[in-house]
Amino acid sequence: MPEQLKKSRTDVPDEFNRVAGRYDLLTALNPGYRKHLRWSARRLGLEPGSRVLDLCCGTGLSTDALALEVPNAEIVGLDASAGMLAIARKKKFATEVQFVLGDAMEPAEAGISGPFDGILMAYGIRNVTDPDLCLERLYRLLRPGGTICFHEYSVADSAWSRGVWNAVTLGVVIPSGRIFSGSARIYRYLRRSVNEFDGVQAFERRLDRAGFVEIRTEPMDGWQRGVVHSFLARRPE
Ligand SMILES: C[S@@+](CC[C@H](N)C(=O)[O-])C[C@H]1O[C@@H](n2cnc3c(N)ncnc32)[C@H](O)[C@@H]1O
Repeated sequence: MPEQLKKSRTDVPDEFNRVAGRYDLLTALNPGYRKHLRWSARRLGLEPGSRVLDLCCGTGLSTDALALEVPNAEIVGLDASAGMLAIARKKKFATEVQFVLGDAMEPAEAGISGPFDGILMAYGIRNVTDPDLCLERLYRLLRPGGTICFHEYSVADSAWSRGVWNAVTLGVVIPSGRIFSGSARIYRYLRRSVNEFDGVQAFERRLDRAGFVEIRTEPMDGWQRGVVHSFLARRPE
């Protein structure tokens, strides 16, 4: 097994299969993780009963945030890790959820068809092989006027944010991952992939190039301020 994970259709999801059983425990140790997902879900500003796509839904923590923030939503959760989905499928949610196995780059191949009133992609866009093509496909899945939120780490624009991120991952996340899930590989990938990901301004420009409008970035609190963001945008009417 190569030491460094690569972005591919299988590499990252396969590694998530290995840590799936401990994922919820590890995120519970991360203060703000669940609260911040709810902030992003709320910031979508969706009406009750909306149809929502939770892309890269994992074990369903982002799905739960959507179910709590959008009453009576009809949620479709997609993830490429069968292990993460198996945990999600065992959970009870406040609203109707359908889970689908598939690649975020190829939602049509997984049988996902629009239109959706909203899309949440929490900790997903950083992992896809071609973010521009992914955005183009997500744009087409939204109804005109629909909203999208990328809940994602982005530290490239600020030396402070990069310092916090590398201190937290080297000092806490990677050692805890090694202890609690027996492997630190996915957490080393996490540190590296965030360091390599777009800064806030570059990601906003990417959204603009894809045709989205009303692009804005909202912060989190705690150590995640300046590190995790809600990137929000709308498909024009
Ligand atoms: C950090 S977890 C986030 C899960 C969930 N959204 C949350 O907030 O807790 C990232 C998820 O993205 C999934 N993933 C990574 N690459 C993917 C891809 N190309 N297509 C679909 N899912 C992918 C992984 O399997 C994993 O479950």
